[in-house]
Amino acid sequence: MRHLGLVGIAAAILPFMAGAQTPADIQRAVDDAYARYRTLQEGANADYIPALAAVDPALFGIAVVTADGEVYTAGDVQTEVSIQSISKVFTMAQVVQEQGLESVYDRIGVDATGMRFNSIIAVEAVRGVVEAGAPEMNPLVNAGAISTTSMVRGNSADEVWNQILTFHNDAAGRQLSVLQDVYQSESDTNQRNQAIGALMLAYGYIEGDWQQAVDLYTRQCSIGVTARDLATMAATLATGGTNPVTGTRVIDAEKVPGVLAVMATAGLYDDSGKWLYRTGLPAKSGVGGGILAVSPGRFGIAVVSPPLDEAGNSVRAQRAITDISNALGGNPYAPAASR
Ligand code: DON
Repeated sequence: MRHLGLVGIAAAILPFMAGAQTPADIQRAVDDAYARYRTLQEGANADYIPALAAVDPALFGIAVVTADGEVYTAGDVQTEVSIQSISKVFTMAQVVQEQGLESVYDRIGVDATGMRFNSIIAVEAVRGVVEAGAPEMNPLVNAGAISTTSMVRGNSADEVWNQILTFHNDAAGRQLSVLQDVYQSESDTNQRNQAIGALMLAYGYIEGDWQQAVDLYTRQCSIGVTARDLATMAATLATGGTNPVTGTRVIDAEKVPGVLAVMATAGLYDDSGKWLYRTGLPAKSGVGGGILAVSPGRFGIAVVSPPLDEAGNSVRAQRAITDISNALGGNPYAPAASR
């Protein structure tokens, strides 16, 4: 074997160590982002669901959960917001876990619409393709998500709901519950989603009770979560399906890449491309102000901050996650030596 000498050994090892962070490095990245964006006042709370307009716009919490289950936080990681569209990831994951990767691919599709999350034009643009065997929707926009919720198995609405909530609980590592004020508020004002549900039945995406699907979708969107819950849920995907804090296996490892792929292409709706360009991270936003993102094999990260930009994504969450992930070398597309 060639004798390397000290310099040679350092040259051989250093590229693999570059970017290896200590706990202090991770906490510093989290604290820096918190300090940088704490006073930023851009964007506005969602108000098309009246209860969301009443949430404190100053709420700001950051959490990182590493693949080995260490938790780093800054700001408010106690206050719950409604999970909203982030639940779409976990209901998709649940269906994929229960019925296989092809189930969602065949029934809903996995293509980005490039349109807003509640677009009806997007539904019209792809109508009829289910019968042709190549549906071009995805589970992270409302039409695809309501249809995905309709796929969760159970003999009654309560049984289906129990499956959905349990899956979310396992990923978060604690018992979650519905924020009743949000559920009531959205139920009173979700006529557009009801229209989408009826269309999805008419176009063959939903089989069975579309009204039950819309109601359960509304309930899943109203689950209360903190930034810490969301980061743990993201970390469950980062490890390949095991909650790294509790050790519970939530989804089979071979099913996780498909879920991450849909997050990468459609997680931030029509801004998904911009997001991926800046971070490389599969992520998902919700109009409650949360965003979670996954650095596969490394960490889950989440931020809660209610004010949203025009595309419906939390302003501070996007900025803080981008900075922290880039500081930690979280971009999976970056050369290994810089991670
Ligand atoms: O269906 C809705 O309008 C909400 N329950 C969820 C929307 C959402 O979170 C979109 N996210 N950015």
